[in-house]
Amino acid sequence: MTTNLTWYGHATLCLRTPEATLLIDPFFSGNPAAPIPAQEASADYILVTHGHGDHIGDTVSIAARTGATVIANYEIINWLAAQGVQNTHPQHIGGGFHYPFGYLKLTLALHGSALPDGSYGGNPAGFLLTTTGGKKIYIAGDTGLFGDMKLIGEEGLDLAILPIGDNFTMGPEDALRAVKLLSPRYVVPIHHSTWDLIRQDAQAWAQRVEAETSASVRVLQPGQSFFI
Ligand code: NI
Ligand code: MN
Repeated sequence: MTTNLTWYGHATLCLRTPEATLLIDPFFSGNPAAPIPAQEASADYILVTHGHGDHIGDTVSIAARTGATVIANYEIINWLAAQGVQNTHPQHIGGGFHYPFGYLKLTLALHGSALPDGSYGGNPAGFLLTTTGGKKIYIAGDTGLFGDMKLIGEEGLDLAILPIGDNFTMGPEDALRAVKLLSPRYVVPIHHSTWDLIRQDAQAWAQRVEAETSASVRVLQPGQSFFI
């Protein structure tokens, strides 16, 4: 009962569980780091952390092609439904739901969430997934550091997926502090090096994290996968 994680560059991820393929923040068109075009992405579910264009990305077209169910906050779901997305499931921060692939809860994120046309996108979120096999995976979304990451860490995380790019989200220093609050077994850094503005040395960050915490860092290249 393993779960496979693929990073498609920026904040775009694919989680393949035994039950379903989850595409997270599917930003392919206009993403210089994306190793595949949007047309090649597969999904049973699409999870969207917030309304910004580099996260909602190709959600509408991929949902139309695959029939995937989109999971996001209530405001984003209403906006997507108005764009013609058929299958949706709204949630909100603090709320969880049992899906065939596991229990998914929306978590706090310190960020914005305006949609590409300026519509209100509600509050930004992260995701905490408990797979049917019992693995806990935290996807922070775009966020600054916050002390309540300690509460999330108390759930016992197998994997934390954290932004380290700085400028728009946590940078390397605060992401290291986040690892200390979250205490995950594994960490994957994302939301970095897509553009020069958020370029970071992920390997150097990984060395610091592994020196100062008990977490193991998996530095992926866009298109690379790892099993947890
Ligand atoms: Ni954002
Ligand atoms: Mn972003």
